[in-house]
Formats: sequence, C-alpha cells, structure tokens
Amino acid sequence: MTGTGTLTTPLAKVWTKADLLDFIGANMKGVRLIVVSNREPYSHRHTDSGIQCMQPASGLATALDPVMRACGGVWVAHGSGNADREVSDEHGRISVPPDDPAYTLRRVWLDKQLEDEYYYGLSNEGLWPLCHIAYHRPRFTQRNWDSYRRANRIFADAILEEAAGEPAFVFIQDYHFGLLPRMLKNDAPNLLVAQFWHIPWPNRETLRAFPWKEELLDGMLGNDLLGFHLRYHCANFLNAVEREVEAKVDRAHAEITRGGKSTMVRPFPISIDFEWHNDASQGPEVESAIPAWRQRIGVMPEFLGIGIDRLDYTKGIPERLRAFDLFFENNPEYRGRVGFAQVGVPSRMEIGDYQEINNEIDREASRLNEKWGSGDYQPLHFFRGEYSQTQLMALHRLSNFCMVTPLHDGMNLVAKEYVASCFDEDGVLILSSFAGAAQELTDALMVNPFSTDEMANAILHAVTMTPEERHRRMRRLRTAIAENTIYRWAAKILMTLLRMDSAESGDS
Ligand code: F6P
Repeated sequence: MTGTGTLTTPLAKVWTKADLLDFIGANMKGVRLIVVSNREPYSHRHTDSGIQCMQPASGLATALDPVMRACGGVWVAHGSGNADREVSDEHGRISVPPDDPAYTLRRVWLDKQLEDEYYYGLSNEGLWPLCHIAYHRPRFTQRNWDSYRRANRIFADAILEEAAGEPAFVFIQDYHFGLLPRMLKNDAPNLLVAQFWHIPWPNRETLRAFPWKEELLDGMLGNDLLGFHLRYHCANFLNAVEREVEAKVDRAHAEITRGGKSTMVRPFPISIDFEWHNDASQGPEVESAIPAWRQRIGVMPEFLGIGIDRLDYTKGIPERLRAFDLFFENNPEYRGRVGFAQVGVPSRMEIGDYQEINNEIDREASRLNEKWGSGDYQPLHFFRGEYSQTQLMALHRLSNFCMVTPLHDGMNLVAKEYVASCFDEDGVLILSSFAGAAQELTDALMVNPFSTDEMANAILHAVTMTPEERHRRMRRLRTAIAENTIYRWAAKILMTLLRMDSAESGDS
C-alpha cells in the first residue's frame, strides 16, 4: 500500500537519531504519518514580552518531538495555549519547531466545558486513578463519558481531514483516546491505526469498576496495533478483553480478533534520546546553570539527593519525605550532612485530588524542615515550578543521588534522564519497583515506595555506597538506556506497522 516492501534495517543495534533518519529514508518513502495526542508539543502563550512558544513539561511530547522531526508529517493535538489561535492558520495548522520547521502541528479546539469533562473529568479523574491503582478513588460520571466520546469524535474528524481519503499511519497517544481507533477504522478502513498507552493497564478486577468498559475495549480494538510499556500490561489487556467482550484472544501471538478485525498487542518500553542527554549534560549551557542551583540551595550539604516530578499523587512525594524523616531518626549523625532538593511541576490543578496532594507535600515539607533544620541548614528544598531541560540537567550534575519512587508509573523517564546525565558514571538511582523503568534499570537501588523503612534504608545505602559500587551500578544502568533509546522505540513501532502494511497489501 504505502511502504517500500522489504525492511532494510535489522533491530538488534543501538539506535541513534541518525539511524532512525536512515531507516525512515529507506523504508517510509510515501508513507504519511499522523501522530495524535492531547498535549501539544509546542504551545503559544501570551507573556509580558509578547507571544512565546513553549514546550510543555510532558514526557510524551519530549519523547515524540525528535521522532516527528525525523519523520515529518502531521501531529494533531489539543490547542491549549492562550495564543495558539493567533499564530495558527484557519485550519489550526502551524509548522514546528518554530525555529527549524520539520512537521505540521494541527491544533484541535475544544471549549472549556468539553476540556473540563473530557480531559480533567473522564481522563484524569476517571481513567488515570483507575489505571494507576494508587489508592485514589476514580470518579466516573455519564456526563464526562459523553464529553470524552464527543472529544474523541472531534479529533477523529480532524484526523480524517488531514488524511484526506489517502492511506496513512495514524499513531495515537494515550488514555485520552480510547474510542478514537474504532471511529477512525469505521470511517477510513485504509488507515493503519496504532495506539500507545503511556500509563499502566490495570488487572481485570480493577477494570471491572469502569462503567463503560465494553465500549472502551471495543474502541481500543479498532487499533491494528496496540502498545503498552510492559508485557504485564499487555497480559492485563488480553485478560480484560477475554472477560468483558466477545472476541477471540490468541495468547500465543498476543493477537485479538473481534468482528473479523484483528489487533496485535505488543510491549514497547519507551525511552529517551540517550546520546543527546549524555552530550548536553556535559555542555557549557548546563555548566553555567549549576551556580544558580547552588545559590537557590544555599548551604550545600555533603550529600545532595534530588527528586523531579509532576505534582501528582502517583509520584509518591509525601511518602519520600516521610522516608527522609525516618532516615534522620535512624541516622541522626547525617543531620546537617544530607539534603534533598525536590522539584515539583504543577499539574492538573483544577482537580481536587491534585490540590490536596500539593497541600500534603507543603505540610510534610514544613514538618521535615522544622524538625531537622537548624541554623543555615535545611534538609529539604522544595522548588515548585517549571524548569528547562538544561536546568534539570544542572541539578542532576550537582546531586549525589536521585529518588524516583512513584507508587505506580507506566515507565518514568525522569529515571532514565538522570542516568543519562551521569556521564562520569558517578551517581545513585533509588527506584520504585512499581515504575515501568524498573524492568530495565535493574542496577538501581530498588525500593517499595509504600515501605518507609525500605526507602530510609535505601537513602542510607546511597550515601554510604563505595565509589566502586556506584560506578559499577551506574555503568550498567547507562548501558541499558544506551541500548534502548527513543529512536529504537519508534523504529520498533514503525517496523511493526510497515510489516503489517506489506502483509495487508500482499508484498511480504
Ligand atoms: O504519563 C502519562 C502522561 O499522559 C504523559 O504522557 C504526559 O507526559 C503526562 O502524563 C502529563 O500529562 P498531561 O498532558 O495531562 O499534563
């Protein structure tokens, strides 16, 4: 149909951006790629110094932007910036990145009520807690589900307009679009549709609580290819389908057939641009951002730990602060010697549970500092706000260890970014065993984030670890990420789609 038939690049290699570009050049001539996500990769906002183009603090956008730069094509996303309409054409289109245009961003407009009900309501008060199982009760209302359906339809129409009746690969991102694949396939069977679900998929007992599970599963079975981070999430999905809808589940091939149409279910653990992080973290820009952190922190402790998270209840931030409290209780000799810098990026603040987690973090932070601070020494430095990649790398550079301890996470790219910044192989990663990244980063200090004792012990291990052990662990962690880059993730998905495409058109 669209691809060039036989694939020219084997997968067992380290994938760089140049490799992906070569692969696309050799195999994807004539293939049109349409990426879909709720969050846009670039947003335009009014500021005191005029309209500014920003890149949102989103793992998804950060991961896919380099891929789109390499592939070209169209990215369809919700236009959420308050100056977006002013800079887009009458179809909501704009070329990005602004300083070096490589692909088209097609913005979809949603009114405030629809955004409240589809994005904050169904997606983030319903599906988010349901899939993360982080002891936050999901909320479901018929009104939000209707808006979710309506928003999916609006996106479907924009995509169909972009495809203009021609074949294309449509690559949908995340849990905001469970119904979109079926809508697209019904209206344009010539589209090859794939979806990547960036958050966990829950076990079937948990999914039972979702009132519209059949419609959701049916929507997702409109995909030709459905990806999750982990094999475990794929297995949960197969179990759910088997239980809830009429379909044939072929476990050996991880393939589901419903109504004569089949969906392949596969794990694709997402990653980062390792080479870029590794190089940039050694560069002059990062170097010159370090003094500002020293100034913000004031008296530098002998050992500095860091945490970088969106302010989300799944990230386990209060639990982490309680672990510091216990660490000082158990090891008072470290008072004054160990400090922790926590960056918290505000997120989804229209939702009550997010306002509460912010308040809880503030309470725990004050408690910790009141109890263990003295004179100039403050054990915790909490930085609420958005920081650039350069600033975050500077913080990586300044630290001795990093805590990534979510209660549950699909992957968690912060863990991978920290490791990529440790170019001198000196640094310790404390990682939750409930982050998807734990499957690959097995040389981290693994913790159960629900166990305060385990986390306090891990902090002690981090600050007492011998240089030999630090280097040995970090070297292995870096190898794991260098071998599985974001470009490999993208290549694996594109290769799978190309194979499906040529099988369909009888090429083989
Ligand atoms: O982890 C899931 C996810 O949707 C990411 O894909 C995204 O980077 C992050 O949550 C932030 O979400 P939002 O777009 O709602 O700010």
